[in-house]
Amino acid sequence: MCGIVGIITSEKRNLVPEIISSLKNLEYRGYDSTGIAIINTGEIRRVHRLGAPSDVFVPQQISEELGVTSDGLSVAIGHNRWATHGKPSEENAHPHFDCTDTLAIVHNGTILNHELLRKELIALGHTFSSTTDTEVIPHLIEQKIKEGSSVKDAFLDTAACLDGSFGLALISSNEPDRLLLAKHGSPLLFGVLKDTLIAASSSNAILAYTNTFITLADGEYADLSIGSGNVSYKIGTIQDRENLITKETTTITDHSREDMSMGEYESFMKKEIHEQPSVFRTTILGRYDETTGDAVLGGLIDYEDMLRHARQVITVACGTAHNAALVGGILIETLANLPVRNEIASEFRYKKVPISPEEAILFAVSQSGETADTLESVKEARRKGYTTFGIVNVVGSAIAEAVDAGVYARAGFEIGVASTKAFIAQLAIFYLLAIKLARERGMTPQEGQSILNELNKIPNLMIKTLETTESEIKRLAENYASKGIRTINFLGRGIHVPICIEASLKFKELTYLETGSYPLGELKHGPIAIIDNNALSIIIMPHDDLFALNKNSLEQVLSKGGNVIVVTDELGAQNLVLQDIEVIIIPTLKNQLLYPALEILPLQLFAYHYARALGNNVDKPRNLAKSVTVE
Ligand code: G6P
Repeated sequence: MCGIVGIITSEKRNLVPEIISSLKNLEYRGYDSTGIAIINTGEIRRVHRLGAPSDVFVPQQISEELGVTSDGLSVAIGHNRWATHGKPSEENAHPHFDCTDTLAIVHNGTILNHELLRKELIALGHTFSSTTDTEVIPHLIEQKIKEGSSVKDAFLDTAACLDGSFGLALISSNEPDRLLLAKHGSPLLFGVLKDTLIAASSSNAILAYTNTFITLADGEYADLSIGSGNVSYKIGTIQDRENLITKETTTITDHSREDMSMGEYESFMKKEIHEQPSVFRTTILGRYDETTGDAVLGGLIDYEDMLRHARQVITVACGTAHNAALVGGILIETLANLPVRNEIASEFRYKKVPISPEEAILFAVSQSGETADTLESVKEARRKGYTTFGIVNVVGSAIAEAVDAGVYARAGFEIGVASTKAFIAQLAIFYLLAIKLARERGMTPQEGQSILNELNKIPNLMIKTLETTESEIKRLAENYASKGIRTINFLGRGIHVPICIEASLKFKELTYLETGSYPLGELKHGPIAIIDNNALSIIIMPHDDLFALNKNSLEQVLSKGGNVIVVTDELGAQNLVLQDIEVIIIPTLKNQLLYPALEILPLQLFAYHYARALGNNVDKPRNLAKSVTVE
């Protein structure tokens, strides 16, 4: 949700192409508007536009607009916006200026006390040109400078006044060799090169330039500057700015760079769907022991006793991560006989959960590790005395740092806004976690070995599923999209219900159509009323214990004249009368609990191809952001 970049260099050059290319890599964080500011011949200059950088920024044209000469530039900042305060418009697009046009700021986050600050600043004579929360920041800095502060002190004193979250980058035409950063609640790091320092909300924005980074923690600032022909940096805390901190650099492996390129694929989402077999394999790699039939989760090793004695599991998450947790809940309850409560993070924080913190263990699940609702739930849970664990994809993210311990999902960078490969990685961890909790509660080594043995085969079966279902699912998606079918329900029973919910969410996110997901048995209690020959029901029913019951429900849908696609396995297909239904066939599994890892694949592809047939942008669906850092 919003992405910022900033560059400072002792080797003057046109920084505009680098800013634009970094902004393009951050588009998944927000893409309704964008902007750049530079210091050129002692003046701050800016362009800001409605739209995403890929659509509205051509480097040469923007360089000309900003008047970049052959002398080059020393500093530049850029921003991608996902509007929260103030609608998407050119005026509201960052960077924002103060009244004197000597300060320019980009901000990722939300300022909760902006109304009060704005009132006070207006009373002091400041004029605002946007309706954003962010614009109070340059005006407050300006005010503090007017009252005698240095740019740096004014910046840090302002940061200290802000209630909410921020990743900030500031440039000032009065100090053209400086780039100031501050962080609280929103991610911020900077890459270190010999003659250049490059800041961004996420390392993937700047991997093309460096894979060595320093990550700022909450409450920290960085003062990047040029002196004696070199770049240097100082890091401290906003509260105690004189005591400088020494921080380690982190190096990211080359593998991450591959995530940033679409390769041979037509979109990131398509690529990420096809990466899922290898993500599943990587996520379970080295995390189980076939000889003992147990999972080995290194991140939880210090909490073995707690895991063994817990009487309840709570999960908190949002969106797709919550849907993965729903599958996880069924796995843990079925295998470990341990009750699970799946909480939507935005609800959990504000409700009473009648479970004593001594008896429960809490897992926060998040791809980005930034989602405000999930992060705040973790903080609230810790306040109440719960021990909290994370299942997080982004290493070192806010949630990963906030929990007591955790297990990283190993999905790599996920660029497509609609989550696919992170979901699969979360599922893989829940399989391992459920086995671990079960082995501590009576599951025999043989039972553990049997599941692990089949879990190990899942990546190859995922490859097979993708290969054998894609062309048919594409044909069906294009066919139904062209028929104008607009009522689509995903139906199933048991462990397939969360997959229906996830498939429906994916479909909604990409196609903008209203869809439903119901336990199949609920059909007759209401949803059946909307079934006619304009409705499509997608029923997930591999040949498991509930197959006969599902066949009954399938008959009910057909009797109302509805269109039906059945997702089943090879055995299920042999036991169905294939008249009047379309069938997608996935491989047959011994353990029914493993089907979710296969059946979600054709359903992600269905949403994908349906959306493409409607002409929608699958990587950047309208109104969404990949990491939602506001509540
Ligand atoms: C946003 C994204 C969803 C994602 C959810 C939770 O709504 O658009 O795709 O599932 O946030 O994100 P997280 O990063 O916490 O998994």
